[in-house]
Amino acid sequence: MMNKWIERGSNVIMNTYSQFPIVIEKGNGVYLWDSEGKKYLDFVAGIAVNALGYNDPDYVKQISLQLTKLQHCSNLYWMIPSIELSEILVQNSCFDKVFYCNSGAEAVEAAIKLSRKYGKKHHGENCYEIITMKKSFHGRTMATVTATGQTKYQKGFDPLVPGFSYVEFNNFDDLEEAVSEKTCAIIIEPIQGEGGIHPAEKSYLKKVRSLCDNNDIVLIFDEVQCGIGRTGQLFAYQLFNIKPDVVSLAKGLGGGFPIGAMLAVQSKADAFQPGDHASTFGGNQLACTAGKVVLNKLLNKGILENVQNQGKYLKEKLIKLKDKYDTITDVRGHGLILGIELDCSVKDIVVECMNKGLLILGAGENVIRFVPPLIIGKNEIDKGLEILEGVIQHIQK
Ligand SMILES: Cc1ncc(COP(=O)(O)O)c(C=O)c1O
Repeated sequence: MMNKWIERGSNVIMNTYSQFPIVIEKGNGVYLWDSEGKKYLDFVAGIAVNALGYNDPDYVKQISLQLTKLQHCSNLYWMIPSIELSEILVQNSCFDKVFYCNSGAEAVEAAIKLSRKYGKKHHGENCYEIITMKKSFHGRTMATVTATGQTKYQKGFDPLVPGFSYVEFNNFDDLEEAVSEKTCAIIIEPIQGEGGIHPAEKSYLKKVRSLCDNNDIVLIFDEVQCGIGRTGQLFAYQLFNIKPDVVSLAKGLGGGFPIGAMLAVQSKADAFQPGDHASTFGGNQLACTAGKVVLNKLLNKGILENVQNQGKYLKEKLIKLKDKYDTITDVRGHGLILGIELDCSVKDIVVECMNKGLLILGAGENVIRFVPPLIIGKNEIDKGLEILEGVIQHIQK
């Protein structure tokens, strides 16, 4: 039956993903089941999305309840769930205002547009350039794929959007040299996700903050992947203790419901006026209800603490694995956004783990990324790493 689904899917779904040959049908906690009933331990979480895992009773209840009231109404009117979610975001961050959209790319796109408006308003028409980092990932729309500092995602889509330049990540001299009076924004992932789990250095971010302050440049943190509890703090910037002017969020914010958000401090948020930016579904009632449940649980039910504890435990275990197997050359990351670098392609390891009931994720050619649901426990980490070690042992032979 599974093959039948795959055949039907291949006939009608555009060929952009090179899917693994399994059909995922349902989930519970940190486990998923395929259409033939095989169970998988999930260290992928929909690529850092399912913060609360699957089937969380509060999540199901609150969204179901909202569905019986109202599923959508336009931003022409005020909506209660989006007001409430914004209050939680603002009260627990350094930001003052929220703009909602539906995905990470749209959140970054909104940040790019806000920065350009701010630059032009305060520093003239030529202040529109945005500096981004090599190895970064910011999305697949034309502006965000341009912002992405990896040519492999841009091939075939030129001409790209003008006004972007790329510098070495964690290299302050390179960045300082690239800044000019045309620079309106610098965009950084505090932990590069798709690029291979590369955390920023705190001292680097501190210098970047001063550079932006001295030149009135908008500092954007793209926390689409590393935000919303992933590092053990609600926002990744809190881990580094460096406050950006703007942040982009998505993925974990809805815990599986599509939502994106761009948050800004007041002085930057003021650059947007009615009509400057919009999204039909932005701030949708169901999406914002999902966001409320996720944030309430992260903040009040010990989930951030769980990320800190389990993240530490997982990292320690990964370091032990590295000490044991030469093929592992590095362990990186914070909280539950961790990666191990190998001296070989990780593709076969990912497939073999899947066959043995563990879903893990690559990040580039030779990095395995760990972004499990934030509710994961010690036993599940032990179980997952037992499978992974078995596969690595086999491959190293
Ligand atoms: C840091 C970062 N920004 C933006 C995006 C794009 O998000 P989306 O796929 O929701 O458009 C991603 C997706 O992986 C991401 O990791």
